[in-house]
Amino acid sequence: MAAPQAVDYDTLIPNNVGLSKDKRVLKALEKWHPGYISWWNDLIPKQFQESLVYLRTAVSVDPKGWARFDYVKMPEYRWGVLLAPEVEGRTVPCGEFAGEPAWQEVPGEHRATLRRLLVIQGDTEPASVEQQRHLGMTAPSLYDMRNLFQVNVEEGRHLWAMVYLLQKYFGRDGREEADDLLRRQSGSDEAPRMLGAFNESTPDWLSFFMFTYFTDRDGKMQLESLAQSGFDPLSRTCRFMLTEEAHHMFVGETGVGRVVQRTCEAMREAGIDDPYDIDRIRALGVIDLPTIQKKLNLHYSLSLDLFGAEVSTNAANAFNAGIKGRYQEVRLEDDHKLHGDTYPVVQIEDGKVVLKDMPALSAINMRLRDDYVKDASGGIKRWNAAIAKTGIEFSLALPHQGFHRQIGVFSDSHMTPDGDFISADEWSARAGDWLPSTADRDYIESLMVPEFTPGKYASWIAPPRVGIDNQPGDFEYVQLHMA
Ligand SMILES: [Fe+2]
Ligand SMILES: [Fe+2]
Repeated sequence: MAAPQAVDYDTLIPNNVGLSKDKRVLKALEKWHPGYISWWNDLIPKQFQESLVYLRTAVSVDPKGWARFDYVKMPEYRWGVLLAPEVEGRTVPCGEFAGEPAWQEVPGEHRATLRRLLVIQGDTEPASVEQQRHLGMTAPSLYDMRNLFQVNVEEGRHLWAMVYLLQKYFGRDGREEADDLLRRQSGSDEAPRMLGAFNESTPDWLSFFMFTYFTDRDGKMQLESLAQSGFDPLSRTCRFMLTEEAHHMFVGETGVGRVVQRTCEAMREAGIDDPYDIDRIRALGVIDLPTIQKKLNLHYSLSLDLFGAEVSTNAANAFNAGIKGRYQEVRLEDDHKLHGDTYPVVQIEDGKVVLKDMPALSAINMRLRDDYVKDASGGIKRWNAAIAKTGIEFSLALPHQGFHRQIGVFSDSHMTPDGDFISADEWSARAGDWLPSTADRDYIESLMVPEFTPGKYASWIAPPRVGIDNQPGDFEYVQLHMA
């Protein structure tokens, strides 16, 4: 039977999983709800809690139209539990159980692994909201502020998505994990978030755009692999999350694109051709292209670390168990078991980077990371095309995958963005050429002055080409109620 697409908005927790008939889970979620709301209220500055934000809310899971746009006070946003429709006759797509009917309950032997995956995914969702909590104050426009808050409320909903699965399928330990998801805090000493990139701060709007482009895209790849899970409720949950995630990456790609655009336009207007004429370019109140490249290097390298070690037994086990698949598993043409198959994995041998064929099962992380790199390259091409159009000679590039890495085969060495190994001393001397220096950060921070007039934009960013929900250029995306 196909699941209903409509979402029940009559209950405290909107959902399309029949919560009103599932008293045990409903009760558990209702008990968790106040903690969530107080987490949200403590986090988002008060003046924005009281402002009306033009947000989309999911009202169905129909791919043709699931969102409704309207002014909402964020604490009153309807966070819900939404699963993509059940696919009739769906089977486990990979691993030793490939071809068997997908599981509607958690298989006992994989309970611990699944719970851990849900907790790790769940932990990233509120973490990014915590990282971005100060950005509303310095929004370069109401349009951008609205996009920030849209991303934030949806990351909140993604937390709900994982908490629902924990509460529904993991009993008491699920409830404890759900509580811990609200207890940990990004950057906290006592209870930090689980993954490194989610404890870094997002100090400015260029970081936010880079984060949504690179780190949300890691999130997309993780969700893609969980969407291939043999555990069907997880697959359905992730499939709907991916439709929301697409907007986050849109915010990142167009955000960076608009910064690049504005810089090139300002250079043109001032008659500056040399992208490295930093002082003159900065005097125009825009972010020079080399500094944008440094930010890109930082966020890309942090995001690559999120894929874990290239060779991983955990990843092999999860694939073999049918808990996680490869990117677009069902479209791949092989036996989906990978016994005896190989995959090329980067290794360092005699001071050189080489590709070595390794058992494909243990190279699952490497493969997902390769798919990520391909996916992340698209935006770079589009940004470069926009730069070229203005006649400025400069192109942005992804640094070598071994640059600035903390995890995996490159973690013990130092490398330039071009992929040359260098000594620790040389690294210390030159890191500021490749990663944002204190002076770069200070300069960007000096630009972070709010622009809250409808239709107006800060000096360093171009307006978007089209409005959200096709609204006109001077649309008031946020009706501020400042204290
Ligand atoms: Fe998310
Ligand atoms: Fe996201």
